[in-house]
Amino acid sequence: MIYVLGSINQDISLEMERLPKKGETLIADGCRMGLGGKGANQAVAIARLARKYDDGRKAVHMIGKVGADAVGTELINKLNEYGVGTDYVGQVNRATGTAVITVSGKDNRIMVYGGANLGITKSDVDEALQNATSSDTLLCQLEVPTYIVGYALRQARSYGMTTILNPAPAKELPDDFYYNVDIIAPNETETQILTGINPKDWDSQYAAMQEFHRRGVRYVVLTLGSNGCAISDNGKLIAHLPARKVTAVDTTGAGDTFVGALALTYPHVGMYSFQEACLFATRASSLTVSRRGAAESIPTFDEVCELYSNKIGR
Ligand code: RIB
Repeated sequence: MIYVLGSINQDISLEMERLPKKGETLIADGCRMGLGGKGANQAVAIARLARKYDDGRKAVHMIGKVGADAVGTELINKLNEYGVGTDYVGQVNRATGTAVITVSGKDNRIMVYGGANLGITKSDVDEALQNATSSDTLLCQLEVPTYIVGYALRQARSYGMTTILNPAPAKELPDDFYYNVDIIAPNETETQILTGINPKDWDSQYAAMQEFHRRGVRYVVLTLGSNGCAISDNGKLIAHLPARKVTAVDTTGAGDTFVGALALTYPHVGMYSFQEACLFATRASSLTVSRRGAAESIPTFDEVCELYSNKIGR
């Protein structure tokens, strides 16, 4: 079982030829509204990619909060439709988290209002994890309060669970935070903010990975956009994995697809090595960037496999 502690947002995504200047009003070329939030997207990625193995139980449960209104209810329904367990998604008297996204060419810009996401409590975490075991995984990001994420990671570690942190959006974290993280998966911007190192080439990527290991993380996966990812285990660089060349139409949710795919394939199914899990994740996220939207752009397991000659896409 995978538990995803994180944000559930209503995404309002505007396609713009360019961004407006100060004081300027610009007409968008397109508008999409849908389920988003880094936590929700990652949970949807796990559910979509896990379908093949579904034996009736949900592979993934979301721990989160939405508003006690029609928007919140609709987002819960959407999570359910995608196959995400929502027993631990509560509704509170705050506006549902909202993201305003501009997509311009292949670049996006995201502004997030936390709203109900900020209402998650320690007892919500306790309730969700009360039956967790060492074969389960906890996946977190940083769109919910940092102290709640730190608490959940500590609890998960005490149950022997695998812990994965996608430190997005990056913010300063207490040093002891990292000790409870088995796998960290930052992108280039997050790596620079968290380590002070710009991972622009192999040497700097290696240095940044070493810094995460020094802080206590076992596996580091630096996601490098169209350049794929670099992965290391306990200070030893394992590989640079290239990304598949695709025509990107919207990169929203690509990082979330990667992290969800990794969380599913590496510790949960147990049929992948760490490197194979990262390769599968790279391939899954390459499909996401070729489609518009966040959760709605995430591929299924079969869609990923269709692109490659065998089941795990080697
Ligand atoms: O990672 C993409 C997500 O970031 C969007 O869906 C948006 O809601 C923000 O959380």
